[in-house]
Amino acid sequence: MTIDRDRFVALFERQPELEVSAPGRVNLIGEHTDYNEGFVLPTVIPQRTHVALAARSDRVVRAFSAQVDGQAPFEYRLGAEQPRRDWTDYVQGVTQVLGEERFIFGGADLFIESSVPVGSGLSSSAALQVAVLRAFRQAYSLPLDDVALARLAKRAENDFVGAPVGIMDQMVCSLASDRQALFLDARTLEYRLLTLPPEVELAVINSGVAHQHSAGDYRTRRAECERAAAALGVPALRDLTPADLPRAMALPEPLGRRVRHVVTEDERVLQAVAAIERGDLAELGRLFYASHASMRDDYEVSVRETDLLVELARAEDGVQGARLTGGGFGGSIVILAKPGKSREVAARVKAAYDRQSGRVSTVLVP
Ligand code: GLA
Repeated sequence: MTIDRDRFVALFERQPELEVSAPGRVNLIGEHTDYNEGFVLPTVIPQRTHVALAARSDRVVRAFSAQVDGQAPFEYRLGAEQPRRDWTDYVQGVTQVLGEERFIFGGADLFIESSVPVGSGLSSSAALQVAVLRAFRQAYSLPLDDVALARLAKRAENDFVGAPVGIMDQMVCSLASDRQALFLDARTLEYRLLTLPPEVELAVINSGVAHQHSAGDYRTRRAECERAAAALGVPALRDLTPADLPRAMALPEPLGRRVRHVVTEDERVLQAVAAIERGDLAELGRLFYASHASMRDDYEVSVRETDLLVELARAEDGVQGARLTGGGFGGSIVILAKPGKSREVAARVKAAYDRQSGRVSTVLVP
């Protein structure tokens, strides 16, 4: 067990009976394409969320997070979940959707400990929901496969937490293992797990600017995409190709640029999969830069700080590509380093960024 049994016993006066975990993720490419029913290519990071559980014979859940200092376990009854606008909503959301789906399960004492940083664009919320779902699945032998589990996690986040996110994060946290990337069609949920060749060396740096997906900007982008799809007469932007772009660019500002990002980003995901498969990392790096430019100029989800990080990375010899990763409006960048260079370039980019931005960044990978 990673979770300290003594702390569990001190809190709940009983032993945990199981421990599970789920990883955070970094998206390689395919940003803001999932809710447009397109393609994504995320992979997992070493940071994980661990959940230790002891089942209860009543319908009470007590949940404790080691990340929140000095507080008592949060306690609620199954079926009486109420949003509180904090981390407990991810736990409550999960039990609420399990209840709605008529799964047979009871209460639990839960101890949660995570190394996935919150608000850094690395899916701390999906890691938590997937880990809690795994804990209930194991404790109560719920008939749930990994895709069904991801769908429930997404529903909990959409309906209970109120964040209108797509399904990328929950799918990769539920399905991928270390050094695997998930090539996912977000419309059909068909997927392929790609083993990343050892030369794919990543660095992830958090800008220190926090984001919030239940906040307005993400929702605004989604609404813009829906408006554009309706105006262009397609069910989702996924249904457009580069040949449709002249038509899209005639829409009122900024809809054309939003469409151009999504359509070109879907293409870039397909090109990135092909580049990985033939070991063409220079091409993968080029796609990273192009993706970043598109997110910055057309989709407008980058901020000064994440642009600066990407520019500093680009100036390094040991870097093949870099881009903002995740929803944006702050968060982290992912760097494709040359083999053997990830540690060194991450340290140099961090130092230059901290000097120039006046903020404190964090190297999360390697
Ligand atoms: C967040 C959401 C995902 C996805 C990304 C942007 O991480 O949770 O569903 O939309 O933003 O690619």
